[in-house]
Amino acid sequence: MAGPLRVGLIGVGQRGLQHVQVLVDMQSDEIVQITALADPYPENLADSKIKRFVDGYSANGIKMFDSADSMIESGLVDAIWFVIPPNQHKGEIERAAQRGIAILAEKPQSLFLDDIISQDIAITKAGVPSTVGFQMRHDRGYTDIATYLSDKWVAAMTMVAEGGVEGHGVKHTRTEEQGGPANRVWTANRAWSGTSVVEAGIHQTDIMRYWTNDDVEWVRATYTERPTELHETEGDNPIAYTVTYGMKKGGVANLLFTKPARSYYNGRFDYIIHTHGTIKLEDDIVDYRFDGEWPPIEKPTDADVRHVISKGPHTTAMGQENTLAIGKAFATSIVESKPENRLNSFNSSVNSLASVLAANISNDLDGEKIVIEEFINDDKYARYRVNPNR
Ligand SMILES: NC(=O)c1ccc[n+]([C@@H]2O[C@H](COP(=O)([O-])OP(=O)(O)OC[C@H]3O[C@@H](n4cnc5c(N)ncnc54)[C@H](O)[C@@H]3O)[C@@H](O)[C@H]2O)c1
Repeated sequence: MAGPLRVGLIGVGQRGLQHVQVLVDMQSDEIVQITALADPYPENLADSKIKRFVDGYSANGIKMFDSADSMIESGLVDAIWFVIPPNQHKGEIERAAQRGIAILAEKPQSLFLDDIISQDIAITKAGVPSTVGFQMRHDRGYTDIATYLSDKWVAAMTMVAEGGVEGHGVKHTRTEEQGGPANRVWTANRAWSGTSVVEAGIHQTDIMRYWTNDDVEWVRATYTERPTELHETEGDNPIAYTVTYGMKKGGVANLLFTKPARSYYNGRFDYIIHTHGTIKLEDDIVDYRFDGEWPPIEKPTDADVRHVISKGPHTTAMGQENTLAIGKAFATSIVESKPENRLNSFNSSVNSLASVLAANISNDLDGEKIVIEEFINDDKYARYRVNPNR
């Protein structure tokens, strides 16, 4: 199509404002034109508020809507960025797809598998371009890992993501008016976030699939629940999550995710083991691998086995740089007819979301092994797929 792409964004909250910044930046390059914003709360559409978060923002030429559907029906948009809390979807993605509108959906696309399947069917049937907000796929270092591993078999991966409850932001949705948390920190609340592994650990889950060009076949999980007396102040999500993914190509991936309160500690530890090497995420991304005749007569030194596969520093995987990259990739994929710019689709991302939702089920069922295909298709898991609010 001839550019610029007419873009609308639904949900002008914490993440939505980051995307508006990207859209404003792309607008100056004439890749997109922001034609519409939608949010049920007038304060989130106010010029003065958006300008506090977005450099260079002007409301000129932008029509404001108080509902997603009025934007979808307006005829003003070629593409919509959906950036609302994951428990708030009520068929808007399906209706946008049916109108031929391209869709960038923030993760998690919903908390309920039946809804996700319905969104996926609508998008696939309409044939509209789609992508899901896994911006880490656009990170230079992580892409270097994926390229490096493209001719290798990965036996095991571990990602430890240490964070704290206090790392959650105060959000822009008036959750207190909808039976949600009074402090608007909805990411600490299970009914709104689906658990931290669903809301946040989905990024780590997806990036392990990206690195290995693989899908999750089954999931086992055990969570450590937060004591009930702390729910009022710290939210009701678990303190720690131990999740194991069996990958389709036979490797195993571990995701250890922690959310204590009061620690104010952020840390991470990762390894990727392929048949003949150990990849570590240091300042550089490094593969420890001995290439000579094996076994060597003398033990090799670190320098002998240390191969840099991506020069550092690598500090921006979740940052604004990659939010710009995913937005630009999506917009240009449409304007320049380059679908290869999209590093996922709604359909290809269902596996990441089904996997984290399956982790919740496994934990509820005492660590039962949940096979993703069965979670999606079998009657025995039907009650876990249903959206109780619809
Ligand atoms: N990719 C990432 O790194 C990343 C980072 C943060 C959040 N997110 C995701 O973005 C989404 C939004 O999160 P957030 O942090 O911006 O939350 P938020 O509560 O700050 O913002 C959500 C916005 O959507 C609006 N909204 C709520 N229901 C709506 C509806 N039915 N129609 C239209 N607007 C509606 C709210 O008023 C609010 O302005 C979530 O899915 C979250 O997981 C992704």
